[in-house]
Amino acid sequence: MYGTKKKALFRHNWRSAELPLHFGLGSGTLKCMAMTHTQILIHVWWPSDTRSSHLTSIDKATAMDTSTHFEKLLADMKLDGRYRTFAELERMAGAFPTALWHRPDGERQQVTVWCSNDYLGMGQHPDVLAAMHQAIDLSGAGAGGTRNISGTNHQHVALEAELADLHGKQAALIFTSGWISNLAALGTLGRVLPDCVIFSDAQNHNSMIEGIRRSGAEKHIFRHNDAAHLNELMSAVDPARPKIVAFESVYSMDGDIAPIAALCDVADRHGAITYLDEVHAVGLYGPQGGGIAERDGLAHRLTIIEGTLAKAFGVIGGYVSGPALLIDVIRSMAESFIFTTSLCPHLAAGALAAIRHVRSHPEDRAQQAKNAACLKAMLRDAGLPVLDTPSHILPVIVGDAHLCRRITERLIAEHAIYVQPINYPTVARGEERLRLTPTPFHTKAHMRALVDALVAIGHDLGWPAIRHA
Ligand SMILES: Cc1ncc(COP(=O)(O)O)c(C=O)c1O
Repeated sequence: MYGTKKKALFRHNWRSAELPLHFGLGSGTLKCMAMTHTQILIHVWWPSDTRSSHLTSIDKATAMDTSTHFEKLLADMKLDGRYRTFAELERMAGAFPTALWHRPDGERQQVTVWCSNDYLGMGQHPDVLAAMHQAIDLSGAGAGGTRNISGTNHQHVALEAELADLHGKQAALIFTSGWISNLAALGTLGRVLPDCVIFSDAQNHNSMIEGIRRSGAEKHIFRHNDAAHLNELMSAVDPARPKIVAFESVYSMDGDIAPIAALCDVADRHGAITYLDEVHAVGLYGPQGGGIAERDGLAHRLTIIEGTLAKAFGVIGGYVSGPALLIDVIRSMAESFIFTTSLCPHLAAGALAAIRHVRSHPEDRAQQAKNAACLKAMLRDAGLPVLDTPSHILPVIVGDAHLCRRITERLIAEHAIYVQPINYPTVARGEERLRLTPTPFHTKAHMRALVDALVAIGHDLGWPAIRHA
């Protein structure tokens, strides 16, 4: 262990090592951080309060340099309008989509939330809350370990069976988040398939990109939703090499939908595994809320369907579903599954209750779709630059980071409406936007208030795309 860490210290930048130290005065820990090959920062941490940290003079100089560097990084972000400030909210069970906003002046104020990914309000549904309370009473708070070592609870197994059934797959595997599920599944499949090539849509989410990067597999990026380009790229690769085509169904920032059948046709022609991220579609589309693939009768054409438990299902966690063999490989070989504590049982129980409710209540997603259509028409009628998306996600384009932030600051401060500005790197520079996500619980009055507020603020700020009467 000692030898490995010491080696890493001198081979790489930004690697750290902790070495136990024993001096006459007692024992402590030597922490080394190699910032470059020539600069070494040395801290000696002592266990007692009175001798908590002793820095050498070299350390002090270096530490000051790093602070300046960090401060500049953040200052640059602020200048660019990329610096993120979080609205401190207190969700109010039973009052969705209203929440309490803790204002910077210390006061609390009720606001209408227009940008939540709790798309159906399931995070506050009585069935979900009851299942979670019951699971806590029954099983306590934590999971008790990793899945392998005492952390596989009955609730996990039941949830995995439900998810496999939802997508018509042989098996499913849950993770602590959707982000981790993409990292684990793509990272593992791309790594264990010898000489694998992964074809990735240009707009794929960061978690897929990180999974692909981590796999070390050769990667080709096809133009967004472009089956012809995918075919062109695949045709140029040795037919004998294993291939994976990875894409999403509903894209979270543009709200557009992939041509799943066309992409599967190309993938089939080249004998590839198909990997579909349905994070923004599960619970919302299809007769049982199985996503776009279910809605379009295509679930059987996807080798793996990945999803989240944190958006339309209102809780937290992620999953993949697919053939039992592939799921077993991911279960057996994905580090981000193996070496972490499993989801708390009450979270799995809550997610299970949410899925069961959503499957048997299509009227919730029908109402959401109706509300999304209604708001889109109202925004358009008011001359606001809303993208004409075929999904529940309504992006209103602003095109400037500072303006986007100013609009949202005024929305919350003057109109008690909370919308988070979406800036780079979540979207490209020049495509900054408000991302509105109507739920079944937003009323006509909520919509009217939002549209009127946007028009008034746009008028004041000269938001260029607004047609002033
Ligand atoms: C397309 C996509 N995949 C995966 C994730 C990660 O899901 P989770 O929030 O459950 O980690 C997100 C998050 O928003 C996403 O947009």
